[in-house]
Amino acid sequence: MNQDELKKQVAEAAIEYVETGTVIGVGTGSTANYFIDALAKIKGRIDGTVASSVASAERLKSHGIPVMDLNEVGELSVYIDGADETNDYLQLIKGGGGALTREKIVAGASHKFVCICDDSKLVKILGRFPLPIEVIPMAQSFVARELVKHGGRPELRQGFTTDNGNIILDVKDLEILEPCRLESQLNDIPGVVTVGLFANRPADVLLLGTSNGVETRTAPD
Ligand code: A5P
Repeated sequence: MNQDELKKQVAEAAIEYVETGTVIGVGTGSTANYFIDALAKIKGRIDGTVASSVASAERLKSHGIPVMDLNEVGELSVYIDGADETNDYLQLIKGGGGALTREKIVAGASHKFVCICDDSKLVKILGRFPLPIEVIPMAQSFVARELVKHGGRPELRQGFTTDNGNIILDVKDLEILEPCRLESQLNDIPGVVTVGLFANRPADVLLLGTSNGVETRTAPD
């Protein structure tokens, strides 16, 4: 199976976590897109969705799936989204698609976070994938200097503006040995909007696409 087939396989497996009569959170990226396409087949079962990006909202609407404002709904039953990296503790790097801020909000507002990805995303230590950080534009140089002090090599994502009107710094060369601590430290830098580390609120369930089928993992206690 190629990577796209693995992504489709886990996206379809995630349908099992969709609870009838609830509003669910929907992520962003190619794996999330496969999930949206699968969701279209059972759209009558849910009350609606909250999307983590403009792109996902448009895809949901194109299938006739209702998209709601997070402020108009209470807790979401489940959030289903991909990741750029996961470790064995279901701590993630996200933001390759630049939607990390809304993804972190929707994940935070959801009772359960189901992460869907192919097995190329599983690593022992996070940081092989450059860590995306959303930054207020006027703080770009200051935040970049602070990131260098943490041992990273920040690069501006060229020609990219987030749905919130901000920039992304992709930080290379970080070996993330203490994900929770680093997430909190980087969040404290003035001008940082969101760090693409999802460690303090990891996924609850990981559906991993492998050539032997979908492996289901839960976060260790
Ligand atoms: C979007 O901002 C990201 O967090 C995505 O979840 C991540 O990039 C995974 O994307 P793919 O599903 O396209 O690999």
